[in-house]
Amino acid sequence: MEEDKGTVCVTGGTGFIASWLIKRLLEEGYSVRTTIRPDPENKRDLSFLTGLPGAAEKLEIFTADLSDPLSFDAAIEGSKGVFHVATPVDFENKEPGEVVTERAISGTLGMLEIRNSEESCVHF
Ligand SMILES: NC(=O)c1ccc[n+]([C@@H]2O[C@H](COP(=O)([O-])OP(=O)(O)OC[C@H]3O[C@@H](n4cnc5c(N)ncnc54)[C@H](OP(=O)(O)O)[C@@H]3O)[C@@H](O)[C@H]2O)c1
Repeated sequence: MEEDKGTVCVTGGTGFIASWLIKRLLEEGYSVRTTIRPDPENKRDLSFLTGLPGAAEKLEIFTADLSDPLSFDAAIEGSKGVFHVATPVDFENKEPGEVVTERAISGTLGMLEIRNSEESCVHF
């Protein structure tokens, strides 16, 4: 594990891209704040994140949902950069593609409008 390189935020930590990104960032010496969707019954198994090397010391998990862009604020606050990879993915085609896309765009724009700051934002 390398020296502390500062804190970054990765949204959607349960996702494929985000979880690999978190692993690599921890390995590279970053402290990571990630977001997951609210889980009122606390039923999600997050051990694939909490069990990562360095996670006990350097990974913080927050709850946030794109339908409420403000909910990302706590995780983003104080981070030197944001990897915004949380996005609705509808593998079963339950909703029209336009609806899913609109949700992703409006959530992302909402986050940017709220912050409107010097922080760097990477959106895949
Ligand atoms: N996978 C690839 O090979 C690949 C390649 C190139 C680009 N990308 C892009 O990278 C991005 C992430 O892809 P992925 O494969 O990592 O997708 P994924 O595994 O489905 O992850 C999506 C993440 O977004 C979260 N999410 C979904 N709806 C949300 C909402 N309303 N509010 C907050 N979070 C929400 C999911 O949370 P839950 O776990 O609660 O559902 C999950 O953590 C996408 O834009 C994709 O197009 C992916």
